[in-house]
Amino acid sequence: MAPEIAGRPLTNSEGERTLFDHADERSLRVPTSCRRSGRCRECVVEVSAGAQHLCLPTEAERFLRPPFRLACQAVVTNADAEVDFTIVRRRLRIVVPDAEQRVDPIDPQVTVRAGTVCWGSEPIEPRHGGVYGLAIDIGTTTVVFELIDLLAGEIVEVVAIENPQRFGGSDVMNRISYDAGEPGELRQALRRAINGELRELYARTGISRREVYEVVVVGNSTMRDIFFDLEVASIGERPYKSSTELELLDGRRDSSELLKLGWELGLKVHPRARVWGAPLIAGHVGADVAADLVATGVGTRDRVEMLVDVGTNTEVVISANGRILAASCPAGPAFEGWDVTCGMQASEGAIEAVKITPGGTFELTTIGNAPPQGLCGSGMIDLIAQLRRTDRMSAKGVFADGSYSLEVAPDEGVVFTRADASALAQAKAANTVGQWILLRALGLDPSEVDSLFLAGGFATHVDVANAVAIGFVAPVPPDHVVKVGNASLRGARELLLSASSRRALAQLVRRIEHVELETTPDFFELFVDGCQFKPLPLRIGARDGRLAV
Ligand code: FES
Repeated sequence: MAPEIAGRPLTNSEGERTLFDHADERSLRVPTSCRRSGRCRECVVEVSAGAQHLCLPTEAERFLRPPFRLACQAVVTNADAEVDFTIVRRRLRIVVPDAEQRVDPIDPQVTVRAGTVCWGSEPIEPRHGGVYGLAIDIGTTTVVFELIDLLAGEIVEVVAIENPQRFGGSDVMNRISYDAGEPGELRQALRRAINGELRELYARTGISRREVYEVVVVGNSTMRDIFFDLEVASIGERPYKSSTELELLDGRRDSSELLKLGWELGLKVHPRARVWGAPLIAGHVGADVAADLVATGVGTRDRVEMLVDVGTNTEVVISANGRILAASCPAGPAFEGWDVTCGMQASEGAIEAVKITPGGTFELTTIGNAPPQGLCGSGMIDLIAQLRRTDRMSAKGVFADGSYSLEVAPDEGVVFTRADASALAQAKAANTVGQWILLRALGLDPSEVDSLFLAGGFATHVDVANAVAIGFVAPVPPDHVVKVGNASLRGARELLLSASSRRALAQLVRRIEHVELETTPDFFELFVDGCQFKPLPLRIGARDGRLAV
């Protein structure tokens, strides 16, 4: 019988040993979202010795040049040979919020009364130094946190890292199923990474962990609950609800907020620091979106306002005429490069902008001005919009010249195929349909939206006109679109510095109506329409509320 690690055979499906299997043996964590099938492109390794003992690169590796290989594809052909390699950790471009935007006035939950540090009315200990807090936004792809002086309301430092749970898959569904198989592993990885960063942060600033008295955590429902060591299986199956939401619905708790002590979570802060998890909205619409609402004020004004937080799960919230609707759109990771031949995340060498010159050639802009390695999400949106504008591709993703594949960067082997267009069409449709169903439910034309807040790192770099042209974003008037970057961290900051904001948020989330998109009777027809690369109609009344005919 083949040897095993954690129940996995040390060979691939052909019985051959790959570099991924060797990594398992050495307890190295290689990122993967595709069960080692060569589709996610996350398992890139740099081979420093013994490359001649590996099989030739497979079709899945055509985007790589020596000495890089996909660990799941590179079969070691000589079992006795030494092959050395290191895991390539890509430096993702991470959007951090503007530190200049102050919360004013502040009324933190942690205060100093008669020389004693208190949480609300509860004394923690006599003050012996500074009084700090942490605002943490746990995204599926990135984790960003701020160390904040709670008395002055000032940010001491911002730290941004890639979410270390990538080995458990790129989207929340993958993480949920990984967590079921390897309980606790994801939480441990996250806690270790955050604690490692905190250790360095304290060393840099001279601040002690015992001076950090409160932590506010936001994140999508799965990320928040994994951090708090809760079971997440219920979020991955119908009706897709966190255990806290289920308990709330059963009357066993009165809010989906969470509260623990620092020592209970093994976090490098004061052992009796309060760790507060912001409330979820419903289903996959989590505490990150609740924090977006705090940062943008959507739902608190008498205007028609819309929030779209773009990610592997895109969340949409619309507030109009006294109602607030929210939905989660399972877009999946295609715009992060998954299932796209030359797709990649937003790291150095990713094509982030594309123009087609009058001569018909591609003009490319890459992150870091590095040679093009592949297309990231904003580049894909640009490319599709340009191909449509120049009639080189139909709304259904068929190339006008009848070819299967277009060369985007011929020298570097970057191509775009019909299959890629099809994968992106489905991811786009999830975004399109989510926005459309909520607008329709409220009887709103896109032109009636006073403000559309686009949140998330991906949205920050998107060309809005191109996104509208392919139906990725509703056609609201261009000057009504506001890019708000990492609004969830900004919201977490405000929640840390303002107890009244927490109370207001608790009221707000109760008013939000959760729309389950897939239960909409014509969801399937809308989804099929939404797969076309064309703008959404300007009026919802047109075509009986349908997207296209
Ligand atoms: S694990 Fe190798 S490509 Fe996904």
